[in-house]
Amino acid sequence: MSVDIHPIDPASPTFIGEVSGIDLSRKLTDQEVSAIHAAMDHFGVLIFHDQHLDDEQQISFSRQLGMLEEATGDIMSVKDRRIGMALNDISNLDKNGELLPRDDRRRLFGLGNMLWHSDSSFKEVPAKYSMLSARKIPATGGNTEFADMRAAYDALEDETKAEVHDLICLHSQIYSRGVLGFDDFTDEERAKWAPVRQRLVRRHPTTGRLSLYLASHAGGIEGWPMPEARSFLRDLNEHATQRQFVYAHVWRPWDLVMWDNRVTMHRARRYDPTEVRDLRRTTLTNEVSSLAQI
Ligand code: OGA
Ligand code: MN
Repeated sequence: MSVDIHPIDPASPTFIGEVSGIDLSRKLTDQEVSAIHAAMDHFGVLIFHDQHLDDEQQISFSRQLGMLEEATGDIMSVKDRRIGMALNDISNLDKNGELLPRDDRRRLFGLGNMLWHSDSSFKEVPAKYSMLSARKIPATGGNTEFADMRAAYDALEDETKAEVHDLICLHSQIYSRGVLGFDDFTDEERAKWAPVRQRLVRRHPTTGRLSLYLASHAGGIEGWPMPEARSFLRDLNEHATQRQFVYAHVWRPWDLVMWDNRVTMHRARRYDPTEVRDLRRTTLTNEVSSLAQI
């Protein structure tokens, strides 16, 4: 079997690659690992179909590409978790496999995924790649959308590029949930998720391309009055998520979608909350802060 990677849409040859001829449940060859990294640099998002992975296989696959981060951004207490700390639980289920009640705080917190974001930008050392495996998906709805933040950066006016170049944003899950009116945090969670600093423009270490590093977690710009910062961030988000920069993934069971959080944002779309949606995410750490990436 030899790995084949081509653009999902020939009209956008540098965003969203579709991969075939690879079985992620087996140990990858060095050539396969290099092909995946090179394709991630080129496309920013890769789609693999028919990958029947269990949690252990998903973890082993991910570790072949880099160092895993732990699911410390989840609100679920360790005793309530359905799965281990090496995976983020992207589902609407409790640990007994029952649907979370509509007003459950874990479900309401999880609705934050419906806002455009980049994973773990609220951690000092944020995420590099995310790998999301679809185990059970609803009959309709629940797409995941991706926005190309390199293309969004390139399309800015020159004056705006100069203005954003050295700005530092403050990111916290308290901000992103605040947008949805969720403020049911314990003192411990508030302390754990205190704002962290991230560059607004970052350079990809391999390709050298610049991208806008935005997320709903960004709730301020260092040195700026709050309302001015938030209105500017809102404008930038609006710019960056115009349809020409966005791809909507319609899930099939056993798809694995992998994205580079340094160059993309993503969001979940609505679905019927009485249907099960069970996806699991492994995440590679970026190992350094975005502050080091210009
Ligand atoms: C994630 C995420 C979106 C979705 O897994 O990080 O934001 O559609 N998921 O579930
Ligand atoms: Mn996410």
